[in-house]
Amino acid sequence: MTQDELKQKVAAAALDYVKDIPLIGVGTGSTVNYFIDMLADYKNTIEGAVSSSVGTTERLKKVGIPVLDLNEVGTLDIYIDGADEINPRKQLIKGGGGALTREKIIAAASKKFVCIADGSKCVDVLGKFPLPIEVIPMARSYVAREMVKLGGQPVWRENFVTDNHNHILDVHNLDIVDPIALEKTINDITGVVCVGLFAMRPADIILVSQGEEISSW
Ligand code: A5P
Repeated sequence: MTQDELKQKVAAAALDYVKDIPLIGVGTGSTVNYFIDMLADYKNTIEGAVSSSVGTTERLKKVGIPVLDLNEVGTLDIYIDGADEINPRKQLIKGGGGALTREKIIAAASKKFVCIADGSKCVDVLGKFPLPIEVIPMARSYVAREMVKLGGQPVWRENFVTDNHNHILDVHNLDIVDPIALEKTINDITGVVCVGLFAMRPADIILVSQGEEISSW
């Protein structure tokens, strides 16, 4: 099976989790895009979705799902999103698509976070995938220097601006043995808007496609 077929397969498995749920949170990325396209068949049961990015908003509207403001909705029953890396404790690296801040907000505001991915995303220790950090533009160099002190190699994602008009640093070479401690440390750096480490609020359910199988834990 190709990676795209695996993404499609796991996206289809996530549909079981949104049946009969009127309001859902929807993440960003190529795996979630398959999920959104499949939501067209659920237009009658899903009243609306809270979106994690401009791209996701456009796609949801295209399939006929109304997009709602999180402030109006309050707590969500379920959030479906992908990940760049997943460890056995359901802690994640996210933000490869640059939507980490809104994704983290929706995850925080959701009772259940179902993470969907193909098997290539599963790792024992997070950090091979460069850790994305959204920063206020004027703080970019400062935050980069702080990340060097923490042992990372930050690379500015040039020619990219987030939906919140900020910049992204992708931090290479981090061996994230204590994800919660690192998330707290990076959160404390002035100028950081959000770090794409989802450790304090990990996923609740992981759905992974490997070959013909979908495993969940
Ligand atoms: C978006 O900012 C990310 O957090 C995505 O959830 C993550 O990059 C997974 O994307 P793919 O489904 O495209 O691999």
